[in-house]
Amino acid sequence: MTLSEEELIRYKATLTTLQSPAEFEQIKDRLLCQDVFDVLPNLPDRCVDLMFADPPYNLTKSFNDRKFRKTSIDEYSEWLDSWLSRIVRLLKPAASVYICGDWRCSAAINRIGEKYFIPQNRITWEREKGRGAKSNWKNCSEDIWFFTVSEDYYFDVDAVMLKRQVIAPYTDQNGDPKDWSETENGRFRLTHPSNIWTDLTVPYWSMPENTDHPTQKPEKLLAKIILASSRAGDLVFDPFNGSGTTTVVAKKLGRHYLGVEIDETFCCLAQKRLKLASEDCSIQGYIDGVFWERNTKNISRKGKLL
Ligand SMILES: C[S@@+](CC[C@H](N)C(=O)[O-])C[C@H]1O[C@@H](n2cnc3c(N)ncnc32)[C@H](O)[C@@H]1O
Repeated sequence: MTLSEEELIRYKATLTTLQSPAEFEQIKDRLLCQDVFDVLPNLPDRCVDLMFADPPYNLTKSFNDRKFRKTSIDEYSEWLDSWLSRIVRLLKPAASVYICGDWRCSAAINRIGEKYFIPQNRITWEREKGRGAKSNWKNCSEDIWFFTVSEDYYFDVDAVMLKRQVIAPYTDQNGDPKDWSETENGRFRLTHPSNIWTDLTVPYWSMPENTDHPTQKPEKLLAKIILASSRAGDLVFDPFNGSGTTTVVAKKLGRHYLGVEIDETFCCLAQKRLKLASEDCSIQGYIDGVFWERNTKNISRKGKLL
């Protein structure tokens, strides 16, 4: 998905910022084009049910006009702390917090996250895109730390079941399928999701959700997190919204959203995606309430009788 010159001008004209303290009604379903450090003091206490943060990793990387520079682990930890500490006030007592990182910054996320929250898990997802290395292992995984504010948190495992093709179709002594079912499209088993996710595809050129954002997350990844850790109508907050994946998926799944992103072009992409989400709320890889394995698009399409 790209933006024409005309769209860029049109969407830029719709971008807004928050300049004074706001109530919940003023921030719900909004995208703020602003430095998150300027937004946080103006957000109300205890308004967020789920925060998903995908901050710049500890790498030298350009996000359009701005460059994030690799630094020491200690300095990166301090930077994490500088915004996370300001977010604690915004979270409801039963809120969940997810923070993304690669293997280099994962330890810092754990260290700083633990200062404020209860660590519940670390998800590792296979990020297949990436170059091979001559003298190192190819880097093709990322982490997402899962924290909660208290032990009284919401988690709906039934909403994030995985539909897997059955390789070994075991039967019981009566010859009936053991934990799997025969369908016109093949044999499938519904399994509980683990903390290793191998069913994601990083958006690439032919996927409708793909944009020019350099580190765009898959909609399917956000769908898992939002379905497991929020209810319909909850507020999902993303302080580093990028191309808008979190806000778009929250909207598709009937949650309220608040996204903050400093870059105007990325905000325009997010606006365009939000507009399209009003017309089409499908999420690639999530069909009929279950998540399908990678490369089962044709089967799942048949399953949906498309
Ligand atoms: C890793 S990307 C997020 C990508 C996003 N999850 C997506 O799917 O497109 C981090 C984003 O944070 C933004 N950013 C960096 N510093 C920021 C700040 N101080 N305030 C708001 N946004 C910031 C960058 O412009 C970048 O788009």
